[in-house]
Parts: sequence; C-alpha cells; structure tokens
Amino acid sequence: MSGYVPVCDVADLKDLQPRATVVDGEPVVVVRVGDEIHAVADKCSHAEIPLSEGTVEPTGKISCWLHGSSFDLRTGEPDEPPAWEPVNVYTTALIEEAGNQRVAVSLSPPNERES
Ligand code: FES
Repeated sequence: MSGYVPVCDVADLKDLQPRATVVDGEPVVVVRVGDEIHAVADKCSHAEIPLSEGTVEPTGKISCWLHGSSFDLRTGEPDEPPAWEPVNVYTTALIEEAGNQRVAVSLSPPNERES
C-alpha cells in the first residue's frame, strides 16, 4: 500500500477524540466517528489553529475552538464563518502491522485513493 503511513493502532483511536499526527511532514488530525475513520489537515483554514484542539460532533464535524467554524470530516467544507475555505481531506485505510490493526493515512484526497 504505497503512500499510506501508519499513524496509530485502531484500538488507540477513541470515538470523537481527535488525534494529532504528522504524515510526510504535514500536520494531520485523525478522527473516529462511529465506524468511520477520517483524516483532515490539522490546520484551520481561517487562522491555522490546530483542529485537533477542537471538538468532534457525532454528526461528523470538527470544530475550531478559536472562532467556532466547523468542518465536515468527509468533505473538508466549513459550515459557518469565519472560515470560508475547506481543509484538505485525506485517505485512510486499515492495515495489519506486527499483529496489530493500524490506521494508515495517505495525503491523497479520497477521490484519488488506490484500489
Ligand atoms: S482560527 Fe479557526 S475559525 Fe478562526
């Protein structure tokens, strides 16, 4: 699976608790929402605050603590000002590594993911 970087064990990713990581030099926040695992840029598009310091809603949005914009974890689109630009959305996969199920992230957007 080229391009995928393991970032944590699946068991360590708690529901609705953002986890900050770095993939190929880029800050990334990984989030589990129920059965879905998402990865987006860990930088608010308004003023570059880490989104991993914000809160995650069960509806699949992550909120920036500084001014309150929320971003859809599937599309990266903000739902309210002051942020107007989307954040990058990345592709996640589950891989086996040393007997553990791991979350891996590729900086490719989901529509360019490998099969
Ligand atoms: S820094 Fe995130 S909404 Fe302003």
